[in-house]
Amino acid sequence: MNHHKRPLVIGNWKMNLDYVEALHLGQQLGVLMKNKPVEHTDVVLAPPFVDLRSVTSIVESERIPVDIAAQHVNAHDNGAHTGEISVSMLKRLNVKWILIGHSERRAMYAMSDDVVSATLRSVTRAGVQAVLCVGEAAEVREAHEHEAHIAAQLASALEGLDEKARELVSIAYEPIWAIGTGQTATSEEVSAMMAHIRSVLAHLSCGGARVLYGGSVNADNAPSLVLEGNVDGFLVGGASLKAESFMSIVQSCDDCYDGKR
Ligand code: PGA
Repeated sequence: MNHHKRPLVIGNWKMNLDYVEALHLGQQLGVLMKNKPVEHTDVVLAPPFVDLRSVTSIVESERIPVDIAAQHVNAHDNGAHTGEISVSMLKRLNVKWILIGHSERRAMYAMSDDVVSATLRSVTRAGVQAVLCVGEAAEVREAHEHEAHIAAQLASALEGLDEKARELVSIAYEPIWAIGTGQTATSEEVSAMMAHIRSVLAHLSCGGARVLYGGSVNADNAPSLVLEGNVDGFLVGGASLKAESFMSIVQSCDDCYDGKR
């Protein structure tokens, strides 16, 4: 764990759980957090759009100490974009964070670097926290081009952002070959990439951004990734769908944070 920054753990529910199931998971998380309070870690849940309203209501009524994120947003303010959702609609629902450029959006829904960059700008202009997702495919790593690939993704999204916007940015490094595959990156691979990303961020005047790891994180591998991976937290997919495994990942971060900032 990088001990300088407050850890951040985000549960990305992807296209899972209808609003009733989402309420149920929200309630379970609330109970676990009441029994064992999380002291040093920011916890964020990213449900599907149609669950946002029910999850924010339960979080508010039960005072569950989590923030709510959206998994995606359209870069435009409003207008003829059938099927899309705007940042202002999400803000109105008290959404505080938005994931941008998840590899599934980039690969399956043709989200280009330009659209990622435009989306990051609309999100930060609205004062909402942005989680920029970056990651390389297996072939890119095999060709030893992963560092250059990540640097290019970061530069394309972050270059020229104003200071106020830069303060709202966090990064999630998710190697595509590790997402949903059970093939987590090793602590050495994660730690090397964290160092690389931090140096690129420093050049882009974004050194304050937290850098998370994502890709088959679970309750078993989280402790060693926290101790040796030098991460500021995690973006968790599959393991965030069960209250116990998600909270155990959160606790791994919380236990390790030394609180001496
Ligand atoms: P996973 O997904 O934890 O299921 O690998 C991570 C992500 O895609 O955010």
